[in-house]
Formats: sequence, structure tokens, C-alpha cells
Amino acid sequence: MKEKILNIMKKSKEYISGEELSRQLGISRTAVWKHIKNLKQAGYSIESKSGLGYCYVDGIEQMNKEELQIIIHELGDFFKNVEYFQAIDSTNVFAKNLRNKENTLIVAKEQTMGRGRLGRQWESKSDQGIYMSLKIHPDLMPSEAVNITQVASLAVARALRNIFNLDFKIKWPNDIVFEGKKTAGILTEMITEIDRIDQLIIGIGINVFNESFEGELKDKAISLKQVTDVKISRLELIKEILNEFIILYRQFTKSRNLEFVLNEINAFSSIVGKDIIAIDKGKTNYYKAEKIDKDGRLIVVDEKGIEKELLFGEISIRSKDGYS
Ligand code: ATP
Ligand code: BTN
Repeated sequence: MKEKILNIMKKSKEYISGEELSRQLGISRTAVWKHIKNLKQAGYSIESKSGLGYCYVDGIEQMNKEELQIIIHELGDFFKNVEYFQAIDSTNVFAKNLRNKENTLIVAKEQTMGRGRLGRQWESKSDQGIYMSLKIHPDLMPSEAVNITQVASLAVARALRNIFNLDFKIKWPNDIVFEGKKTAGILTEMITEIDRIDQLIIGIGINVFNESFEGELKDKAISLKQVTDVKISRLELIKEILNEFIILYRQFTKSRNLEFVLNEINAFSSIVGKDIIAIDKGKTNYYKAEKIDKDGRLIVVDEKGIEKELLFGEISIRSKDGYS
């Protein structure tokens, strides 16, 4: 019911009377009043004026389960459930322990043990970013599903570009960078059964409102707030990312490789055409990055001019000039 009330109020740009709400919702005016009171208590910005009724004040962003439910419904039937947490260890860990078979979106306001690749940490301070996991059940082989990370990276890059009109790039294969600094990271984890995927968990972390970063992140990380003056809404961003992801995911599960977005992935790459350093299990190699191929591999040329294919597994990429 809360969801329905919010939807009606958001669609109506003006005040809407209690009587009209009660008519549209098929409930009494007292029931409408109680729901509005609860919504206000939950933090929604709703103004009441005698003689006019109620109005949802746009612009003050609330992240909560109801708002996220509205988003997934507006995007169709791809996601069936939403989980929202004020604080959780890691949305990816929660997703892995969820045993339902339905596509589920998990979002947290804070993560106390946010994870990056290879057991690294992902700084996830309260209300500073977007911390979310998409739990899906694709009919793909594990070897095909590894490229979902790049599909998700592209969805995030597209969404950020669409909204902010800035040159966000993809640092192959799982980071989104702005002028060389990391704005977002993607961590995909799979639960497999012999040769098929049982669950795929796509964790997306985005630095949104951080004013600054400390320690090792100081020169490495950047938030959206630091790069744009445009008013930022996490909910709008989540919706845009999910929208792009669903489009790309449907195309990917048909084609089962990245051919259909190869030009875009290469054009958005922060490393293609550059001299890079690839650190593989502690060993440092120097290459020139040539292109990303349809199977998601990074094609490089080594110092002797020999072409090689890098699979992202355990590799960390650095740019040679410290700018990637
Ligand atoms: P890098 O090139 O930065 O080492 P990577 O791809 O090799 O990246 P990842 O596992 O993808 O490493 O990212 C985890 C790393 O990201 C952490 O080790 C940390 O340095 C950095 N990091 C942690 N939290 C954040 C954050 N909120 N924003 C940006 N970077 C972060
Ligand atoms: C990386 O660059 O290493 C990937 C970082 C992924 C962070 C996100 S935040 C939501 C989800 N939950 C986690 O614990 N990690 C991912």
C-alpha cells in the first residue's frame, strides 16, 4: 500500500487530496492518513496542506526497501525481490547465502566488510555510496558467465555517462574510473554445479558522496560528488544501472559472447592503446594493451613484440605512467 501511495503522489506533480487518494486506493480517508503518517515517520518528505491534501517533495532522496521495490517494478519483471539493509557485512555474502531461485536485488546503506577481488577490502562507509548485489540465475556455462563482469562494467559506465555526461572509462575488467581514479568496482561471484551456473552474484560498489579518501585510497579513489556539480540521486543511478544491465544481459545471454558490444567496450577502455603493467601472482610484466576480444580477454603485446591473451582472474593492471 505504501508503495502505491508513493507512486500516485510521485506521478501527481501537485497536491493530491486525501479524498482522491482514498478513491484511487479504495481505502478510507482515515487509512490514507495513517499510511501518510507512517511514510513521514519512515523519513519520506511529504507535505500536507489543509484544503489541498498531500504532496511528495521531490529531491530529498530516501533509500529504503519501498523505493527500491518501485524501481524494480518499473523495470519490468526481471527482479522479483529486493532486500535493503541499514548495515550489513557484505551484500555479496548475503546474496550467496540466499537460497531462493529468483532474481534478487540486495542494497545496503553501509557495509562493514565490503569485499573487492582476491579478498581485498572495499571501503563502504554509511550513506557514502551505492553498495548492491544482483543475484541472478543465468542459463550459461561458467566459462561464458565470466564475461558478466564486463557486461556489468559496461552497464555502470553507460549509466554514469548517461546521467553525468562525463568520460567515465572501464579499467578492464571490473573497475570504472574517472581520470584514472576508481569510482566504482564490480565483484562477480559464482556458485556453480559441475558445468552449470546455479547463482551469479554481481556486486557493484560506487563512491557517490565521499568528500575525500584517506590512506591508500587517497590517490586511487574518487567519488561522483568530487567530479560533478549535478545533483546526485542514488536511486536514479541504481535504476539507470539496472535498466542498462537488463538490456545488456538479455543480449549477452543470447549471443553468449561480447561481440555485440565490442566496439563500445574498447572505446570506453581506459587501458586499450596504452602501456600497462600486469601483476600476475606477484610477477610484474610490461605490455602494450591492444584490445579486448569477444571472449573478454585483454590482448597485449609484450616487450619482444609477441602477442598474448590475458584472462582477468588474478591479474591487476597498472598503467605505466600511473594514469589509467
Ligand atoms: P587495483 O588496480 O586498484 O589494485 P584491482 O582490480 O587489482 O585494483 P580490486 O580487487 O578490483 O583490485 O579492488 C580492490 C582494491 O580497490 C582495494 O585493494 C583497494 O585498494 C581499492 N578500494 C577499496 N575500496 C575502494 C573504494 N571505495 N573506492 C575505490 N577503490 C577502493
Ligand atoms: C573491486 O573493485 O574489487 C570490486 C569491488 C566490489 C564492491 C561491491 S560493494 C557491493 C558488493 N558487496 C561487496 O562486498 N562487494 C561488492
